Amino acid sequence: MQTVVSILANAGGVGKTTLAVHIAYEMSRRNFSVALFDLDPQRSLDVFCGLSAAEPSNTTTHVFAKSFQGSYPLIACWSNPKIEVCQGHPTLTEVANDLVIRKRGEYVLADRLKLHRLKHDLVILDCPATLGMLNVNALAASTHVLVPVQLEMKSIAGAAELVEWCINTSEELQLEPRPPILGFVPSMYDERRAIHKTYLQQLPVIAEELQIKVYPKVRDSSEFKNASANGLPLQKYRPAHQAAKDFQEIADDLSTLIKQKNKK
Ligand SMILES: Nc1ncnc2c1ncn2[C@@H]1O[C@H](COP(=O)(O)OP(=O)(O)OP(=O)(O)O)[C@@H](O)[C@H]1O
Ligand SMILES: [Mg+2]
Repeated sequence: MQTVVSILANAGGVGKTTLAVHIAYEMSRRNFSVALFDLDPQRSLDVFCGLSAAEPSNTTTHVFAKSFQGSYPLIACWSNPKIEVCQGHPTLTEVANDLVIRKRGEYVLADRLKLHRLKHDLVILDCPATLGMLNVNALAASTHVLVPVQLEMKSIAGAAELVEWCINTSEELQLEPRPPILGFVPSMYDERRAIHKTYLQQLPVIAEELQIKVYPKVRDSSEFKNASANGLPLQKYRPAHQAAKDFQEIADDLSTLIKQKNKK
């Protein structure tokens, strides 16, 4: 089975899409091919990838359609042949509602990726903030989960709840194997804020109880906003920027996982 990573959090604006695009780019630099799916009706990936809005038939909505025959509407991104994007669309909200009453509604995406296997080394699923049917589908389709955690009380508590949600949902869906959480990724770390320092020290304690790894922090920088406003990842927008290196350990782990899978 290919490596499929869901970027999940049960809070908005914690850095899910930022993590998704920067990992995608980092992996492409290591010569892995990546398919990046936008499961968010807000279609944030369009902005982050500098893409104009697509018709529903050219988006993730189509992948969930009953008529889907295996032709994923993937389009090239950042003139990088290693990265392709399946764009999001507001109609994903209706898709989510429909999945509730559909047979195997929780497993549609997993079934698609299994029956119509993509050639890419890595599939990244950028998920919406609410833990509805789209996120259940993402979890069921995933081999691994990554959880960005903002260094705020609400987000840290939310991350612990998310871990519980992943465990319970995996159990209910009888996922075999259950997709492990690869790690928490502290996001938007601002060293000038004392509370961020405090929470950054506390996070490993909470994570250890949950037996989850904590990745190095992604620092807060307005250049992330400038990069995404220009439809680019930071590594491409400001290659020399220190924060452009903040995703390397995650990419190291994903590279190892993919190489191990390829060996089998
Ligand atoms: N490390 C960072 N430093 C500064 N700004 C950041 C950083 N990471 C993300 N941002 C900005 O914060 C905002 C929210 O980030 P992002 O869209 O990645 O979060 P999200 O969890 O995907 O949000 P949503 O729940 O809306 O999908 C964006 O404007 C983004 O550019
Ligand atoms: Mg997002």
